[in-house]
Amino acid sequence: MDKVYFVTTPIYYVNAPPHIGHAYTTIVADVLARHYRLSGYRTFFLTGTDEHGDKIVEAATEANTSPKDFADRISAQFRNLWPELAVTNDYFIRTTDTNHVETVRLILQKVHDAGDIYFGKYEGYYCIGCERFYVEKELVDGLCPDHQTAPVYREENNYFFRMSKYQDWLIQHIHENPDFIRPERYKNEVLAFLRDPLEDLCISRPKSRLSWGITLPFDDNYVTYVWFDALINYITALGYPDREDYRVFWPGAQHLIAKDILKPHGIYWPTMLKAAGIEPFRHLNVHGYWVVDQSKMSKSLGNVIKPLELKDKYGLDPFRYFLLREMVFGLDSNFSEESFVQRLNSDLANDLGNLVSRTITMAVKYCEGKVPESTSPSDGDGVLIESGGKTIADVESCFHELALHKALITIWDFINVTNKYIVEQEPWKLAKDPVNRPRLDTVIYNLLESLRIIAVLVSPFMPGSAQRIMNQLGVENTSVQDYENIRRWGCLIPGNRIAVEDALFPRVKYEKEAEKADAKRNLVEPVKPAIEYGDFDKVDIRVARIIDAETVPNSNKLLKLKIDIGEERTIVAGIAKDYTPKDLIGKKIVVVANLKPAKLMGIDSHGMLLAADTGKGLTLLSFAEDPIIGAKIR
Ligand code: MSP
Repeated sequence: MDKVYFVTTPIYYVNAPPHIGHAYTTIVADVLARHYRLSGYRTFFLTGTDEHGDKIVEAATEANTSPKDFADRISAQFRNLWPELAVTNDYFIRTTDTNHVETVRLILQKVHDAGDIYFGKYEGYYCIGCERFYVEKELVDGLCPDHQTAPVYREENNYFFRMSKYQDWLIQHIHENPDFIRPERYKNEVLAFLRDPLEDLCISRPKSRLSWGITLPFDDNYVTYVWFDALINYITALGYPDREDYRVFWPGAQHLIAKDILKPHGIYWPTMLKAAGIEPFRHLNVHGYWVVDQSKMSKSLGNVIKPLELKDKYGLDPFRYFLLREMVFGLDSNFSEESFVQRLNSDLANDLGNLVSRTITMAVKYCEGKVPESTSPSDGDGVLIESGGKTIADVESCFHELALHKALITIWDFINVTNKYIVEQEPWKLAKDPVNRPRLDTVIYNLLESLRIIAVLVSPFMPGSAQRIMNQLGVENTSVQDYENIRRWGCLIPGNRIAVEDALFPRVKYEKEAEKADAKRNLVEPVKPAIEYGDFDKVDIRVARIIDAETVPNSNKLLKLKIDIGEERTIVAGIAKDYTPKDLIGKKIVVVANLKPAKLMGIDSHGMLLAADTGKGLTLLSFAEDPIIGAKIR
């Protein structure tokens, strides 16, 4: 059982596209999967999407489409995102998959047959955002504590899971397996929930109210409650009840979640498993929340961080590194682009990037581009070699404790020890006298060997950069063999070709600084003298939509646009160098609506479109949310 690792992420709701929170959990799972794979474990890494329930119906209705269409669309966004972030999941599950529907029905039937599902009446406050009922004392000022929205009062006949029956068993299981839920603060939180009597769990919804779900096997008029459906994904994916994967991997199950879904995973899931006669999972690993400027990310605050934007701007490995280095697993973390850039420049460009380029450059210069022989050890090497060995052992235990930020700190300590070794050994001085040749070769060998160890240790976190270091060392790929080898000092083979590549992590400038510089440059065109509000108020600026666009004969600057601004009008705009007519049709733009008509190239223009300078041309003003045609800009 020891050499088996099954890691899962939550299956994400398909009511909105992926953001940095989803990326974080999934990248943590990926780092773990890569580490254990390299350590020779049989590994299974599962992620996917959660597609049933009110929340999805609501989002689909808003988007004017069916729940299935909507789910297909958003699920694909998640599925396609993962390879872009170098995530190596073995399976992607959707709760609308047939095998999942069958497994849910099988478990329901099993628990029903065992007498742990009964029919009864439910009344209470229901939060659609959480997809669950709240008891009154859980509400804060009558509102859902998570969504700050008023739950709706519901009264209906439903099926219940006899969760209360398993309360004592669960308490005992947690006490007997103190790291069943970790870190400890979350174990304590679950134990605190369990201090009050556990209520039975309402696990159905009448089809008259919600039909987008899995039909109960014992009553066609009801669908399953989303959580009872979703949690079961973890065993569907393994082929419960009779596939080999289930038998092999389930005993090594490691669930990863954030604190928002602690109760379903810490209470519903183990009791459901118990009732179905299935062994509990091994660990529930709970992390904190990414917040932005100390507040929760939300569409309405417009502060949702999109993973692909950061990846495209700064590179994948820096993005992965930052997420894992910045968040202490278990605690909340504040996301700021500024600290991301700081880390990129200091930890990656300075510490690691410089070490790699200095070492490789010296190996090329002093050792003819080959890994030299190490024949002249000295006392000064002991610190480096011991530190390498200790780092390997420490990183290993950080993985077992899920302290990934600590694993990175440990690797960076070793990077610093290696940088110090260069300063102490002064290879450039050794190179001055041929008598020192054997010692120079040994120093360079030790440095290259340290780089190899660093590359292998960072490979689960930054696979692309690790491979680039390995390429420079002439090592072809990071296989299990290499990972095993790092436990030994001296694996690098003398004679291997060393190759210099471009900088691993170019330094970057924080965008805001760049923006400041641009703003200053623009101020060279001085701000016009102050005007009264009344003067400004005379200008009527409106939202319009471009209905049609065409070029203006004999002009390479002007386009003739037909716009809808609540009424149809023609305007002439100087944007032909930046947009083609075809790009513009359907676009919403900002127009000064009450400018006196002017004739341009013989065409009457009834308004003026607004655009801003990008430094390379013009860009039309755009909107964070879709505005109404004709809306006044205030
Ligand atoms: N569908 C349920 C989970 C069912 S699992 C059987 C769900 N989906 S979710 O889309 O809301 O995803 C919640 C998870 O996304 C969190 O537990 C966490 O893994 C991740 N995160 C979402 N927002 C996050 C942050 N702001 N910060 C960190 N992780 C967050 O709940």
